Amino acid sequence: MGSAVAATPFSVEMPLPSTIAPTKSDSDTDYYYLHMRRTTAEIIPGLTTPVLGFNGSFIGPTIRARTGRTAVVVQTNMLDEPTAVHLHGAHAPAASDGHPMDLIQPGSQKTYIYPNRQRGATLWYHDHAHHMEAEHVYRGLAGLYLLEDPAEAQLGLPNGQFDVPIMLRDAQFAADGSMIWTLGDFQNRNTVLVNGRPQPYLRVAARKYRLRLVNASNLRAYQLRLGNGEEVVQIASDGGLLPAPYRTDTIPLWPGERVEVVVDFSKFPIGTQLVLENTYGDQDSNRSLMRFDVTWSATDDSTVPAQLAPAPELPPATYYRTISLGLNPATFQFQIDGKSFDPNRVDAYVRRGATEIWQVTNLDTAFGIPHDFHIHLVQFKVLDRNGAPPGPGESGWKDTVVVNPGETVRLQATFADYKGRFVYHCHLIDHSSEGMMAQMEVL
Ligand code: C2O
Ligand code: CU
Ligand code: CU
Repeated sequence: MGSAVAATPFSVEMPLPSTIAPTKSDSDTDYYYLHMRRTTAEIIPGLTTPVLGFNGSFIGPTIRARTGRTAVVVQTNMLDEPTAVHLHGAHAPAASDGHPMDLIQPGSQKTYIYPNRQRGATLWYHDHAHHMEAEHVYRGLAGLYLLEDPAEAQLGLPNGQFDVPIMLRDAQFAADGSMIWTLGDFQNRNTVLVNGRPQPYLRVAARKYRLRLVNASNLRAYQLRLGNGEEVVQIASDGGLLPAPYRTDTIPLWPGERVEVVVDFSKFPIGTQLVLENTYGDQDSNRSLMRFDVTWSATDDSTVPAQLAPAPELPPATYYRTISLGLNPATFQFQIDGKSFDPNRVDAYVRRGATEIWQVTNLDTAFGIPHDFHIHLVQFKVLDRNGAPPGPGESGWKDTVVVNPGETVRLQATFADYKGRFVYHCHLIDHSSEGMMAQMEVL
């Protein structure tokens, strides 16, 4: 089976999600107005797809916020279903976290306040209404929130038009262009979209680019390679810059994760075409994701310094928790600690300001199912994976981490500043939608 529609590979240009300017700004705050509504998009060339969109666009407008300045985002729900908007990766108060039960009813609005007191990072916002987030995100309720940090500006990394976000997600399309939604049906979501289009091309200059890779797929993991395994330089993970650049030819990217790389296209003659491959793909539409066409020469005074940002440092842990992820063989539901999400139950009480170590184990060896652990409110440090230290790509701040079948991953985080209830869950969001989610209360 698979996708009923096929587009000619590399026949459409990769779009960039539009950037939204603040409606107003004062000395320390920028104000944005967004709404959610039904709309249509041209995704497959020549076909019209009904979608859900922030401000009517299939990938919502990009918010460019600044470390140290507050962003106020007023969200109006013009859909006929409740929504909740979560800013993934943000350190924000509970009232602005988009908790799955803190809903915006149809016709209502809610004001989210993001203090942006954290390091520059590639964040993204998406729906989080309980039991509905998987379908809502699949149908389009996701957008980018790029937190720009004045401390980063001095490093000389590629910026402006040479700083390009690339959001990956998959879908299944019917012959008329509509998206087919079936919870859990990853086998048939065979078309990968790159910034909302299948297999686009991007014309680039023969110079360095910063690429911000975001996996907004519900269930699909990628393992990315450029051309014939060209070197890329990873500079950032979920929560911002790595301590030092990491040269590699392979980038794993699980749902919810972000990885930033610098690619130097000046190594290639004008006219070179480089395909971004997903080596986990099983057919062309999910394997050959996009193509970079090196088209013109350009001057380049950008650099990748040998030191990027201080390594994550945390106070010693004073509390330890163990968490298990797994399928309940009786009910066939994915669960955390053998329980499905219950909004009336608190699964973990955390002292505000405490530093804790969470030991997360994936019990699903029988079916070989990976899970993808995400905690709201904090950025964490990955201590080890089955006892071995994390690789260089996971040595910076993280908020989402894959836990493979049988694996135990230990994380350390400080739960600073904000009291209230926050969820943690599997970011294979078809799983969290079904209840693979729990909540902590910070006291
Ligand atoms: Cu993208 Cu609850 O998260
Ligand atoms: Cu989140
Ligand atoms: Cu899962």
